[in-house]
Amino acid sequence: MRGIRVAFGPVVANDDVDLQVAAGEIHALLGENGAGKSTLMRVLAGLIVPVAGEVRIDGAVEPLGSPHEAMRLGIGMVHQHFMLVPTLTVAENVCLGLPSTGRFLPDLKAAGRRIRDLASRHSLEIDPDARIADLSVAGRQRVEILKALFRGARILILDEPTAVLTPQETEGLFRILRALAAAGTAIIFISHKLNEVMALTETITVLRQGRVAATLRTADTDARALARLMVGADVRLPTLEDERAAAPHDDGKSNAAARTILAVSGLVCRDADGVARVDGASLEVGAGEIVGLAGVDGNGQQELAEAIVGLRAAEAGRIAISGEDVTRASVARRIALGLAHIPEDRHHTALVEPLAIRDNIALERIGEPPLSRRGWIDRKAVARLAAEVMAAFDIRASGPGQTAGTLSGGNQQKIVLGRALSRDPSLVVAVQPARGLDVGATAFVHRQLLARRAAGAGVLLVSTELDEILALSDRILVVYKGRIVGAMARRDISVERLGLMMAGKAA
Ligand SMILES: Nc1ncnc2c1ncn2[C@@H]1O[C@H](COP(=O)(O)OP(=O)(O)O)[C@@H](O)[C@H]1O
Ligand SMILES: [Mg+2]
Repeated sequence: MRGIRVAFGPVVANDDVDLQVAAGEIHALLGENGAGKSTLMRVLAGLIVPVAGEVRIDGAVEPLGSPHEAMRLGIGMVHQHFMLVPTLTVAENVCLGLPSTGRFLPDLKAAGRRIRDLASRHSLEIDPDARIADLSVAGRQRVEILKALFRGARILILDEPTAVLTPQETEGLFRILRALAAAGTAIIFISHKLNEVMALTETITVLRQGRVAATLRTADTDARALARLMVGADVRLPTLEDERAAAPHDDGKSNAAARTILAVSGLVCRDADGVARVDGASLEVGAGEIVGLAGVDGNGQQELAEAIVGLRAAEAGRIAISGEDVTRASVARRIALGLAHIPEDRHHTALVEPLAIRDNIALERIGEPPLSRRGWIDRKAVARLAAEVMAAFDIRASGPGQTAGTLSGGNQQKIVLGRALSRDPSLVVAVQPARGLDVGATAFVHRQLLARRAAGAGVLLVSTELDEILALSDRILVVYKGRIVGAMARRDISVERLGLMMAGKAA
């Protein structure tokens, strides 16, 4: 790819990007969220037409902008969100959208034979007759890979493929990719995870703000240098160890004696279809500790957090905050008991995007003094609070009147944090608090959580990013199919055991 330029209105997503990948090579496309990685690969896959630049395959300039052309050229892409039809079988999905061979229906028997053949040749554990809905996420991903190979892919693009996998599943994927590369397939592996890029790839192209920051051989670089290239500056993510070094009294021993801030026992929550999303979960969070709730996305962690903060009804079980039973209490009562909630989805749940920054900050306490008196909002008090929070949480904006929706993701999340944490909460429930943020903003969020811990709050950190859980947690719990299936103190942490628990295997 040479001189690729893509613009979405005023946003230049790719600016004069060059990328060269050889047959049999595993090439990382590394960059922070929003760096332009997916856009560049969507150009290669024929889904976006660039305003400038050319693509050459085997030296020949090829026309751009048609997925069928891309398929003909042997380019296959496994997207971040899989594009399979859950009610159909593997074979039906693989044949879906293929050009007709003249008959009305694709020959599923023949397709099944070819799928079995391809699967065994590339050690992909796949049953062509299985229904997609019955497969694990890792299984669906293998189907996506096979679908690309079935169409003759010689260039295989995977967009952040490990985001949905356990550590063991990630290892399994890496084995598959190494074997494919050894057989001559060019693999482009999109990621923002440095350790994975270091472990898997031979060559790395780093994108930063739509431009190529560097192209390097993996053997000639290290994680630190890559982080600097991604961000443009030195950034270290804070960890619990840093916090302990700064607070010598904190010896990292278990907090068994600490006051219990949150106690959940036997909690059951069902979704609209009557399926138990939380199925008898029990956990405790003590004062001054961060408890990390690890798990593959979709195992009930979201629903569990919603039940704790009062946004989802509990069918059975009990939730207590600082000793008071709040199982049926209002959100307001829970907040009054010291709860702060950092929800997962800032666009839909946490922020009112058309409202000004100051109103978003004041939102939860607009009805209380000093922000309102006898039913009248005191605009001066609101402005004072907003100025305080904006300064303390380093919210960069033209002023408190700027609408929240026009801010960067990092600054939006700082509003959410500022609103929740400036009230000195005793319990913080943080769900994916750094999702989609760049490294600088992620470090800020992590420092804020460590600061609440140091101030004596209990923190429940719900995250599918194992690195985040490992960096910050005093204790780790693992959720699988709505139950807490394992617990581990910081000093006993084993990523291997965590991975087994996340996959529902006893460890
Ligand atoms: N369809 C789109 N419309 C408008 N802006 C987009 C679209 N797709 C991506 N962008 C913007 O382009 C930039 C690069 O996005 P993307 O390629 O998805 O980054 P990455 O995959 O590295 O996270 C971001 O600023 C993003 O908001
Ligand atoms: Mg992307």
